[in-house]
Amino acid sequence: MISKRNIRAVSTAILIMGAISGFSQSIPSLKDAFKNDFGIGTALNNSQIEERDPAMTAFIVSQFNMATPENVMKSALIHPKWDTYDFVVPDKLVEFGKKHNIKINGHTLIWHSQLPSFIRGIRSKDSIQTFFNDHIKTVASRYKDNIFSWDVVNEALNEDGTLRKTVFLDYLGEGYIAEAFRLTQQAAPNVELYYNDYNNEQPAKRAGCIELIKKVQASGARIDGVGIQGHWHVGKVPFKDIEESIMQYAALGLKVMFTELDIEVLPRNFQGADVNQRMGSDPTLNPYTAGLPDEVQQQLAADYEALFKLFLKHKDKVTRVTFWGVNDGNSWLNGWPVRGRTNYPLLFDRNNQPKPAFYKVIGLKK
Ligand code: XIL
Repeated sequence: MISKRNIRAVSTAILIMGAISGFSQSIPSLKDAFKNDFGIGTALNNSQIEERDPAMTAFIVSQFNMATPENVMKSALIHPKWDTYDFVVPDKLVEFGKKHNIKINGHTLIWHSQLPSFIRGIRSKDSIQTFFNDHIKTVASRYKDNIFSWDVVNEALNEDGTLRKTVFLDYLGEGYIAEAFRLTQQAAPNVELYYNDYNNEQPAKRAGCIELIKKVQASGARIDGVGIQGHWHVGKVPFKDIEESIMQYAALGLKVMFTELDIEVLPRNFQGADVNQRMGSDPTLNPYTAGLPDEVQQQLAADYEALFKLFLKHKDKVTRVTFWGVNDGNSWLNGWPVRGRTNYPLLFDRNNQPKPAFYKVIGLKK
């Protein structure tokens, strides 16, 4: 007969094994909890795409059903030289998705950041146009049958809603945005096409975003959805603007997605996610190296809970919520806008253990 003591010993051993591997079987699954509401995604880095850590792979597969490459499909990486493409890791990502039943969102075709260095040497409209056409055709057609969607254009707007000055706007004029959608649709007719930006829940930028979307629609090109990146700050999440935005974007006939969700807990003197904007290093900007104070932890949990409540309220319009990283240790916010900080913006800690925010979010489905 198995005694109670034996059962206790075995379950303790399982818990310890779970803790050592960083993966506990007893963690509820986000993707399962929200399976009738919206997709749950994550950004994946190279190590995760290449499955270097089996416990990490198992964890990703247990929690997420959608994924966006954090960097490997950006033009600097996938198109490093004028006539050279590097599809090695992007192809692995597509395999990863197929193998684990995870839908891939391509990120991103046309963006002013992380461009290949050769772009800087180009001084003619013809050459920019050739790069633009070849890049979209080559990359979009390669994955036309095995990714779910593309962030066709990323971050084309300024904070006041006007068009951002980029190499594409400079040389090709404002029509480049609709043209990017037209070319992607031509190369990948069955893939969903999105516009993606940060702060596009803020009224002025949102107005510009709506205008941009209407122009794409008026051009006859297809646009299926809009991504609100969702790089927000603890205690300052703009819930009202977010809800307004969900309504207004959905009224255009688009799917609404939260595509790069994280909630910053460290000091910052600006909002948004312009990757070219940085702050100098200073120890006062990195206050929580020994752990997150309980008060901040609770505020983070309350913010995530209220956000997911809002997403659920509008689940007929919100199709996906993607976190920008699997756990706090993977987050780009440890290195941006200040290098070398200890940040805590996600639902899982550095060992893939759920934080109080995770239990608040999962609790909404109980
Ligand atoms: C970030 C990545 O997370 C970093 O690893 C990289 O160094 C810079 O870009 N908006 C976007 C994402 O659309 O592609 C950015 O990702 C974060 C802001």
